Amino acid sequence: MPPRTILYTGKGGVGKTSVAACTALRCAANGLRTLIVSTDPAHSLSESLGVALEGEPTPVSERLWGQEVKAQEEMERHWSGVQDWLGELFVERGVDRISAEELTVPPGMDELFSLLRLQGHHQSGEWDAIVVDCAPTGETLRLLSFPDVARWWIEKVFPIERQLLAAARPIARSLLDISLPTQAVFADIQRLSRNLIAMNEILRDRQRCTVRLVMNPDKMVIGEAMRTFTYLNLYGYLTDAVIVNRLFPEGVGDYFAGWRRVQEEHLELVHSAFSPVPVLRAPYFEQEVVGPEMLERLGAALFCEHDPAAILHEALTQELLVSEHQARLRLVLPFARKSEISLKKIGLELVVGIDGQKRTIMLPPALAARSPTEAKFHDGALEVTFDGEQRS
Ligand SMILES: Nc1ncnc2c1ncn2[C@@H]1O[C@H](COP(=O)(O)OP(=O)(O)O)[C@@H](O)[C@H]1O
Ligand SMILES: [Mg+2]
Repeated sequence: MPPRTILYTGKGGVGKTSVAACTALRCAANGLRTLIVSTDPAHSLSESLGVALEGEPTPVSERLWGQEVKAQEEMERHWSGVQDWLGELFVERGVDRISAEELTVPPGMDELFSLLRLQGHHQSGEWDAIVVDCAPTGETLRLLSFPDVARWWIEKVFPIERQLLAAARPIARSLLDISLPTQAVFADIQRLSRNLIAMNEILRDRQRCTVRLVMNPDKMVIGEAMRTFTYLNLYGYLTDAVIVNRLFPEGVGDYFAGWRRVQEEHLELVHSAFSPVPVLRAPYFEQEVVGPEMLERLGAALFCEHDPAAILHEALTQELLVSEHQARLRLVLPFARKSEISLKKIGLELVVGIDGQKRTIMLPPALAARSPTEAKFHDGALEVTFDGEQRS
């Protein structure tokens, strides 16, 4: 059976590394052979665990291993053909060599290559659980939606393109004065596409792999997590928990009373945005969360009686089906009955009211200009239809 894989992501500084580390410690304590992998180029896992980790799995404690993937090495492994070619192309066009080298790596690419290491771990049979401390949200996730495009290129374009280029190369060299991509470039891109497809399959295996979103009770942080949640649902990646870290506990005194009230409100927003996905919480501790003892306290607060390796929620909560003429959003509302439904769209936010519950969904930008035209409730789910007209 493939290992249980849990990816933690969220904005920088919210507590991803701490939460991932405490999850891995608990998994190992429960008897699972556990690997924790950091793919965030800003690694801080060594510091959190108090063990110097290498670019390969390094022993941490009983049944627990840790790895801080070196983005540079992964990039050389996967992308050097493309990098050399693009670099030359930029230099030929007058870009200085250092800037040219920077330009050969699209943003988010380094983390993507790091994530590809998961494939090997998945197949090795050495692990029962893999916990991933990911980079902040955004780019990587978008790149991970790329496999469908990659598949198309591999099947349709590459076979033809290669032959054409072989024929065109001498002409292009002499007439156009440009260097066409070499076979090494094609080999890189083809391998990357295959890897992405394999990676996508691992991530979409909802029996074994889930994502958990880490956030603080802070409006902007929650907003970003909501956008990520929408993307994850869109790509078919299952979010099985959200984590609200650093809540001011009771008894912090008058000075923080205002903060506590605001955090309460923000918690309501979290529930309205992510329900029925379970919300796990942890208090703002009186000291930094570093080392096994503090990590154990964080783990106890977050998981209480939950098994950290369990799939804490089993279904995608939103599905979006987009065709040329219509878009349909399907929302799971397990406890709702069919009664009053209200819809309000403000920019990219769709606020759905049903049976006195409120749900706030951050729509993908593709739906910005569309208006909801119909809402139907059946089989425990609400289906909202958007028109295909681009309206402003
Ligand atoms: N619940 C908490 N209470 C107090 N400090 C925390 C808590 N969670 C995390 N921290 C501290 O906040 C800092 C950032 O946490 P970290 O896990 O490194 O975040 P990220 O990986 O998202 O950047 C670290 O110094 C960590 O010790
Ligand atoms: Mg971190």
